[in-house]
Amino acid sequence: MSLFNTSRLLNKTVLITGASSGIGAATAILFAKGGANLVLLARRADALKKVADACVDAHNGSGIQGGGKVATVQIDVSDKVQVSDVLSKIPDELKSIDVLVNNAGYVLGTDRVGQISSNDMEGMFNTNVFGLINMTQAFINEMKARNIGHVINIGSVAGREPYIGGSIYCATKNAVRAFTGALLRELVETQVRVTEIQPGMVETEFSIVRYRGDKDAADKVYQGFAPLTPDDVAEEIVWAASRPPHVNIVEVFIMPTNQATPWLVHRGGK
Ligand SMILES: NC(=O)c1ccc[n+]([C@@H]2O[C@H](COP(=O)([O-])OP(=O)(O)OC[C@H]3O[C@@H](n4cnc5c(N)ncnc54)[C@H](OP(=O)(O)O)[C@@H]3O)[C@@H](O)[C@H]2O)c1
Repeated sequence: MSLFNTSRLLNKTVLITGASSGIGAATAILFAKGGANLVLLARRADALKKVADACVDAHNGSGIQGGGKVATVQIDVSDKVQVSDVLSKIPDELKSIDVLVNNAGYVLGTDRVGQISSNDMEGMFNTNVFGLINMTQAFINEMKARNIGHVINIGSVAGREPYIGGSIYCATKNAVRAFTGALLRELVETQVRVTEIQPGMVETEFSIVRYRGDKDAADKVYQGFAPLTPDDVAEEIVWAASRPPHVNIVEVFIMPTNQATPWLVHRGGK
């Protein structure tokens, strides 16, 4: 037995939302290395194309025979009409999804309750919660009918512990946690697996989005300690997906070593 057996990924088809950057992009490339086929979703078509090319390179470099097909779908998961049409955008040979990674999500601002704009509030809920639920609804019945599949939802430490200035984001990730838990229970009689990955701070475009393009403010979030990298989280996702069919990794709570809670971070020393 090898230490980290990924042979079960060969020819599996993995759909990843939010695959154009950060955790989603790193996860796509790692799955490609393992011989999976990929369906990559996001709003930015140019960024998706770059990740798709990197997946093809990663697969070619792996020496693995089989798998390695990659398709991209430009979609806004916060738009329920677009999500209802998602299957028609996927090439026929990749329509049967084995692993659904619901990763698309974001936080905007650090506004306190009373100051939060309804646009920000609705955007976060429509993407992080309704986008994730609508995507799951689009694929779960087929997984149940085949009695095989895996839904991997990206939650957050923010779904476990709320913090000041993060009320809406924390509420969305708490909703992801509740939804994922209910889905796990609903599928107990099936071979469909359900996993939630809950990262702490990961250095991605996440903070640039939070601070509305202010790169200096985003960089400060990660100063003085070693945050997680997108690859760190991708490894956990791919590891969970490649366990034997009778093993379900229910939750992975992964933090940087110097982070203990959403905002308790030790900076500037060992
Ligand atoms: N970074 C962290 O510290 C951290 C910690 C815990 C959890 N998370 C979670 O991890 C997930 C990935 O975040 P990340 O850190 O990798 O951030 P990121 O680099 O900003 O990636 C977010 C991804 O989501 C996509 N996305 C956002 N809104 C979308 C929409 N409406 N429709 C389709 N795609 C959409 C973005 O692509 P487009 O802009 O091209 O659409 C992008 O690919 C999120 O759910 C986030 O909440 C992150």
